[in-house]
Amino acid sequence: MATETIPVFVPLVGSDTLAHLAHALDVGWLGMGALTKEFEDRIAAFLELTDRFVLSTNTGTSAIHIALLAAGVGPGDEVITPSFNYVADHQAIRMTGAAPVMCDIRDDNLGIDCEKAEALITRRTKAIMPLHFAGIPCDRAGVYRLAGARGLRIIEDACHAFGTICADQKIGSTGDIAIFSFDPVKIITSIDGGCVVGRDPSELKRLQHLRLLGVDRDTTERYKNRRAWEYDVVDEGYRYHLTNIMAAVGISQIKRIQEFIASRQAVCKKYNEAFAGLEDVKVPSSGFSDVSPFIYSLRVLDGRRERLIEHLRSHHIDAGIHFIPVHRHSYFAGAAHGDLSVTERVVDEVLTLPLHSNMREEFVERVIEAVVSFFR
Ligand SMILES: Cc1ncc(COP(=O)(O)O)c(C=O)c1O
Repeated sequence: MATETIPVFVPLVGSDTLAHLAHALDVGWLGMGALTKEFEDRIAAFLELTDRFVLSTNTGTSAIHIALLAAGVGPGDEVITPSFNYVADHQAIRMTGAAPVMCDIRDDNLGIDCEKAEALITRRTKAIMPLHFAGIPCDRAGVYRLAGARGLRIIEDACHAFGTICADQKIGSTGDIAIFSFDPVKIITSIDGGCVVGRDPSELKRLQHLRLLGVDRDTTERYKNRRAWEYDVVDEGYRYHLTNIMAAVGISQIKRIQEFIASRQAVCKKYNEAFAGLEDVKVPSSGFSDVSPFIYSLRVLDGRRERLIEHLRSHHIDAGIHFIPVHRHSYFAGAAHGDLSVTERVVDEVLTLPLHSNMREEFVERVIEAVVSFFR
C-alpha cells in the first residue's frame, strides 16, 4: 500500500460543520446576517473582551486594510512591520496609500526587534504592525512602550495567534487594534474570513462603513437578516463583509477551539521534546502552554534545510517555508527597510513541519522519526 503523504495543513471540518451549514442554508439568508453577528459575539466571548468590539470581515487582509484606515493611516504615512511576515500586511499598507517600512526581527521569538524599529521611526511614521509569528507573542510590552513614547498606533497582526495568552491575557483583549484571520489553514476557519478587534466606538462605526460600501444603516439591519431600503452613503467603503454561510462554518469551528488548541499544543510539545537535543536544530522559543500554535517552525542551523526538505519528501512528508521575506519579492524590492541581518539568516533556516488539530498519532510519530533520522 502506498504511504500516505502528510500535508503541512489539514483543516478539521466534520459533520458538525455540515450541520451548521445546512442550518444556515435552510434559514435562507445567505449574505451578512444574524450568524455573522453570532460569530462576532462568540469571538468576543472566546477572547474574553470586556472593553472592545469585534468586527468580522471576508479575509484577514481586508481586516488589516480597514483597520489601518480606521487608525488614520493614509497617503504619505509610513507603517513599520517586519519583512519576516506575510505579504498581506505590506499590500494592505500600500492599499491605504501609505508605505511599509520593513524592520528586522529578534532571533529568539522571531518577532519585531523594537530597538531596530525605533531607529526606523520618522516624522511620517503612523503605526507599528508587529506579528506574533507562529502564535508565539512578540515583545508586546516593548512594542507598546515604544509606540506609547512616540505617539504611534499599533495594529497587531495576530493572524497566527488566535487564543494565545500573553501576560495572562488573550492577545486582542488588551492594547490598541488586533487582527485575526480565519482562512482555510488557520486554527479555526470560516473558509475565508477575518476580524478586527478594537476599542474605540467611533472607529467601530467607521469600520462598519468601510466594510460595507459606506452605507450607514446596513450593519444593524443585516445583523437581523434584513435590509435597509432607505439609506445614505456616508463614507468610502469596500465590500468586505463576512456572509452568514461563512460565519456558520466559523461558528462550528469556534465551538471546538479549546479542543483544537489543546491537541496542537500537545503535538508541539512532543516535537520540542524530540528535537531539542538535536545538534544544528533550534526549536521554537516556547513551551506552548500559553500559545495557540498555528504552525510549528523548526530552524535548521547547519545549512542543510533544503536537504531536510528532500529527506522528508522521500518519507512522504510535506514541509513548508514561512516566510520568503517580503523585501525579496520583486514588487517590494524598492520598499524602505532597515538592517535585516537576522531576517536574512533566519529565512534560510526556518522549516514548517506538519501540524494539524487532532493530528493522527501515526503522523506525529512519522514526522518525529523522519526528522530525527536525518540528523542522526
Ligand atoms: C501573518 C499573516 N497576516 C495576514 C494574513 C492574511 O490573512 P487572510 O489570508 O485571511 O487574508 C495571513 C494569512 O495567511 C497571515 O499569515
